[in-house]
Amino acid sequence: MTPFRHGAPAVPDADTLGGHTTRQLLRLCEVVGLGDDDASVYARTLLRSLGPVAGRPLDLPPATPSFLSDDHTPVEFSLSFVPDAAPTLRVLLEPGCGAGTLAQNGRTGLEFLRDAARRWDFATDRLDELTDLFFPETPEGPLALWLALELRPGGVPQVKAYLNPAAGGDDRSAATMREALHRLGHRSAFDVLPEGDRHLFLALDLGDWEEPRAKVYLAHHDMSAPEAGLLCRMPGGPSPEDIEAVFRVAGGLDTGDGADGRLSRRPVQSCHAFTETSTALPSGFTLYVPVRDYAAHDGEALARATALLDRYGMDTGPLRGAVSALTRRRLEDGVGLIAYLSVAHQSGRPPRATVYLSSEAYQVRPPALASLGEPAAAH
Ligand code: TRP
Repeated sequence: MTPFRHGAPAVPDADTLGGHTTRQLLRLCEVVGLGDDDASVYARTLLRSLGPVAGRPLDLPPATPSFLSDDHTPVEFSLSFVPDAAPTLRVLLEPGCGAGTLAQNGRTGLEFLRDAARRWDFATDRLDELTDLFFPETPEGPLALWLALELRPGGVPQVKAYLNPAAGGDDRSAATMREALHRLGHRSAFDVLPEGDRHLFLALDLGDWEEPRAKVYLAHHDMSAPEAGLLCRMPGGPSPEDIEAVFRVAGGLDTGDGADGRLSRRPVQSCHAFTETSTALPSGFTLYVPVRDYAAHDGEALARATALLDRYGMDTGPLRGAVSALTRRRLEDGVGLIAYLSVAHQSGRPPRATVYLSSEAYQVRPPALASLGEPAAAH
């Protein structure tokens, strides 16, 4: 056990799930300039979220096959960039990851969230109104509850909850999403969404957000750049050309063959953020490209991430720092460290580019040599 820099609780050994991910978090905090006190508060939070699996040795298989990341590590980091400022570090967690069933996973997740709400003094009422929809007695689907924490200076994160619209059955996802939006006061929001192949998540901002959002995530299989260009429903949002450019840069369609190709190995996702209830229209739009399935290795994925940040005039230095904070392997020796690239637009704010970074606690996916034509393994 290594003591935290500030006494008391200890970080488990480096070859445990908690030890591995906490060390990554502490190094990432340094990269983005978070102070030691904040870093140790956030590291403790991460450990607490892992609960009983924090001390689980990494040579044992993951306690549950978490859908949060490809190798089932129940933790994913991301760096979110705006021009002229240090990036924000965020961490996505599955607090119920040690539970034996999805129902128990959800209950543990809710307990963790309520505990966090007391500690950090935020309200969960928006979520409380939806628990019957998202936490039925026998839930289905790939997750019960995920939390994303934006690690701000000051030791109090901003919190987002990710809910599973398929909890009541795959065939009920759309109806569940519609009902949830309705209860949140976004009465006709569902009808303005673009067509998608699947409703993936409903995310809620909890806590002291200036404008808390309800965000709907859609999956789009086999999509082309021009089709992606038409997904945005936000007034004053990015142009189809802007969206297409992000799609092409992240998907690697700028160069080489398949310049007009479709991304058919893993779906791109769109996210539609609703804030005001006075209009049915969303005030935010994000496109997510799962770059890991369209790059041969992480060196290529990093080049795409860098090109995207350059395009928006953002400093790429911290991204390189973050990559070194996460792994010592050569980037060419695997793919998936960089999981997604996204660009988010929110009315009245500058665009934000985000790079999603895997922990790879359990596994590094081998680079795709000549096999990019093959469909990716399902997760
Ligand atoms: N692992 C899941 C996926 O790849 C969920 C997920 C994790 C995700 N981080 C994400 C989805 C970031 C979109 C963006 O789909």
